[in-house]
Amino acid sequence: MTISPSVSSAPGAPSRPQRVAVIPGDGIGREVIGVALDVLDAVRAHASLDLAWDVLPWSADHYLATGETLPDGAAEQLQRDYDAILLGALGDPRVPNHAHARDILLGLRVKLDLYVNLRPVRLYDPSLCPLRTPDGTVPAIDFVVVRENTEGAYIGAGGSFRRGTEDEIAVEEAIHSRRGVERILRAAFELARREGRRRVTMADKSNAMRHSGGLWQRTFAEVRADYPEIEAEHRYVDALAMDLIIHPARYDVIVADNLFGDIVSDLGAGLQGSLGLAGSANVHPGGMAMFEPVHGSAPDIAGQGLANPMAAVLTAAMMLDHLGHADAAVALDAAVNDALNAGEVTPDLGGTLDTGAVGARLIARVGEALSPPAPPLAPAEADRAAGVR
Ligand code: NAD
Ligand code: IPM
Ligand code: MN
Repeated sequence: MTISPSVSSAPGAPSRPQRVAVIPGDGIGREVIGVALDVLDAVRAHASLDLAWDVLPWSADHYLATGETLPDGAAEQLQRDYDAILLGALGDPRVPNHAHARDILLGLRVKLDLYVNLRPVRLYDPSLCPLRTPDGTVPAIDFVVVRENTEGAYIGAGGSFRRGTEDEIAVEEAIHSRRGVERILRAAFELARREGRRRVTMADKSNAMRHSGGLWQRTFAEVRADYPEIEAEHRYVDALAMDLIIHPARYDVIVADNLFGDIVSDLGAGLQGSLGLAGSANVHPGGMAMFEPVHGSAPDIAGQGLANPMAAVLTAAMMLDHLGHADAAVALDAAVNDALNAGEVTPDLGGTLDTGAVGARLIARVGEALSPPAPPLAPAEADRAAGVR
């Protein structure tokens, strides 16, 4: 999928390596990002990409050791010094209030204004889909969830009162701004237009949540008028959840608020066969982007070599695409596809390989797909190339 590449170099501008800030985070985040970096290393060697990265320590370990979640000025520094961010996952049972995850993951989404969360759902291998149609065939699933990423129920406004008593009250406020709703709806239609997708489905719960729902409904009616060639429809999110199981192939682009988009995207990952196949991008169109698998830190399987690294590798492919390396992105995508078809998979997909072994297969496939590293020049050729006679 295309993510509206933002990185371009002006003609004649001195070239510098593209820089990626890597935040492996916690649990399987560290394991799958380790594989993604090895795969990126192979891409770098075989496709001669001028790509460099720094691995940043922000995680539960770092928080527990230092008390620091996200350092002051981190967002500004990321914005200034990096072209993209690659993140694993944040979440650790030793931090039950999720303080570090909130500051790092949700904090960066908001501070960098990464308001578009793109979560593609594509059925790479039909045999992995848990669904069958009545005639025994597998539906052709290929849609994108466009999730609002900076507002809604995620803003942390509210509080609890009379805490610990039988009269305790918790208030969790959601904010939906006209500006925020309009820009995510436009992002969904723009994506449909860019990718030649024919339908945008807006999901809300406006039958129960009339204030925010009313704003989404009115704004949707206005924005859709600017995209007459694209079919625009509305579904209540509960009915959408049901229909995604019954008719998953009819969906193209699904746009929803932060909470509903989160839920629908895990449902989409289930349709693909595993959370271990779902990549995502958090994007400020024309600006910064942070790439992360949809899955979390999976404490239940962390440290056992059971994590499927494919979501992280597909996420790295989305990042390469964003950075302008479409061929390399396609090579990663194809490597995952071929490995799936060859059954080179972790136990979540019914396989027996561990995380590192799947990574090794992907690296071998990427190496075959991209041109091999250029052999060193013979001395005479090198002299000629350097203008020495
Ligand atoms: P999860 O995505 O970590 O795991 C859900 C289930 O899917 C688990 O059974 C897990 O073993 C399995 N799973 C997930 N990814 C897998 C992979 N790559 N390979 C094989 N199996 C995989 O969700 P959760 O258990 O609800 O959350 C665990 C922690 O992660 C929590 O702290 C949560 O807040 C956090 N989380 C973080 C992110 C993020 O940083 N982007 C995303 C989701 C959840
Ligand atoms: C995700 C995660 C996060 C979210 C959690 C960890 C706060 O589930 O990235 O999908 O809800 O956005
Ligand atoms: Mn989620």
